[in-house]
Amino acid sequence: MTHFSANSPHARDIASVLHPQTHAGRHQELGPTIMTGADGIFVRDDAGNVFLDAGAGLWCASLGYNSERLAKVAYDAMRTLGYYQIFRHASHGPAIDLSEKLLELAPVPMSKVLLQCSGSEANDTAVKLVWYYWHAQGKPEKRKIFSRRGSYHGSTCVTISLTAKPDYHAGFGLPFDGFLHTDCPNYYRDALPGETEEAFSQRLADTLEAQIMAEDPETVAAFWCDPVQGGAGALPPPRGYFQKIQAVLKKYDVLMVADEVICGFGRTGAMWGCETYGMQPDMISCAKALSAAMQPVSAVLLNERIYQAVVRQSDKYGAFIHGYTYAGHPVCTSVALETLRIYEEMDLIDHIKSVEPVFLRELGALTDHPLVGDFSGVGLIGGLELVRDKATKENWPGEVGLGARIDQHARANGLILRIVGNRIAFSPPLIITAEEVRELARRMRATLDAVYAEVSAL
Ligand SMILES: Cc1ncc(COP(=O)(O)O)c(C=O)c1O
Repeated sequence: MTHFSANSPHARDIASVLHPQTHAGRHQELGPTIMTGADGIFVRDDAGNVFLDAGAGLWCASLGYNSERLAKVAYDAMRTLGYYQIFRHASHGPAIDLSEKLLELAPVPMSKVLLQCSGSEANDTAVKLVWYYWHAQGKPEKRKIFSRRGSYHGSTCVTISLTAKPDYHAGFGLPFDGFLHTDCPNYYRDALPGETEEAFSQRLADTLEAQIMAEDPETVAAFWCDPVQGGAGALPPPRGYFQKIQAVLKKYDVLMVADEVICGFGRTGAMWGCETYGMQPDMISCAKALSAAMQPVSAVLLNERIYQAVVRQSDKYGAFIHGYTYAGHPVCTSVALETLRIYEEMDLIDHIKSVEPVFLRELGALTDHPLVGDFSGVGLIGGLELVRDKATKENWPGEVGLGARIDQHARANGLILRIVGNRIAFSPPLIITAEEVRELARRMRATLDAVYAEVSAL
């Protein structure tokens, strides 16, 4: 049991804060890691330890953890118009400018932007829009939504239903009915012997088609997908995957929603994951790097087909009856706009393209390590698959506590990692340099070495 003095921030945290995604009881013993400052892509805790957070917080701190320039924009916005809403025909400059900018950047023609406050809200709202669309077509029974096993799409009741991870549902009586799950496209784990990536992708598309047929296509409304599956441990799709999936969706008139919450704004080496993989969604949700994570803001981009349904339903119901108090908040949208300006000025995509080869090579080189079975990545996102036996791909048994050991040694090596099941997901700040990538890989190898020495001795 760790003891903290009564008035320390640690004791006060334990007494007052309920932490998301944290073992509540264990937190009483371990207490928090309290971050106090940052320098570029490095964060500092209250004991003076400096960490390279290989996940950029929650896949989001694209420009690092502080910014004079964005702070000034937030300050100015707060002084000019610190709040106004965009309900009932009201508007303001930053909401208009940001919406216009997002339409200009969109990877496929989009018609309107619906501003929200988080990735979860964006996806939750997009689910409502899917249902609204099919109601407008006179097909209210077309309602079921498919997502992929291992995907994470948010924590509201609906988006956690989209999230195809049973441990996120346990204890809540979720998912809601009508949220259906199809294969996770993990080629390394699930391909048949000798199966090519293209053939694997085709098999997954065939399975989805069979599932849609079994459900009755007239009841299937949409397919949800993040271009690189973050929740599955930063897993890029196999070759041909989205083309084959899209052919099935088109055949049965199933809408496609691209969750660009982690992939949007450069992560995959293009402005959007949709560009990297040739996706043609009807709607896009985005958040996180939209404001460099410095303000809570997100957006749903919808195409003309969906927008026209909203117009028709407004005639029927008197308005598009949906909205959040803080949607389009002037401070958040001002910061997002300035973030997008910064990306342009720094040639963000060029920067990512220049660092990508080093990132993929340095982390890919870790596959020579006995604990690592595979690495896959694109742009500045990548995942390491951990195995006990490279030949059989056998996993380490749960009682070894591999993840906890890796986390502990990583921190001792000045590294914060995002460990997702058998994968370690890397999504560093987008401003990371080639030299910092090398440092990340050095710390990762030192961590793997220390853990391997430990588990080999068990
Ligand atoms: C792909 C994806 N979609 C949606 C979300 C939810 O975003 P938020 O935490 O802002 O609600 C996340 C969060 O990590 C995500 O990774």
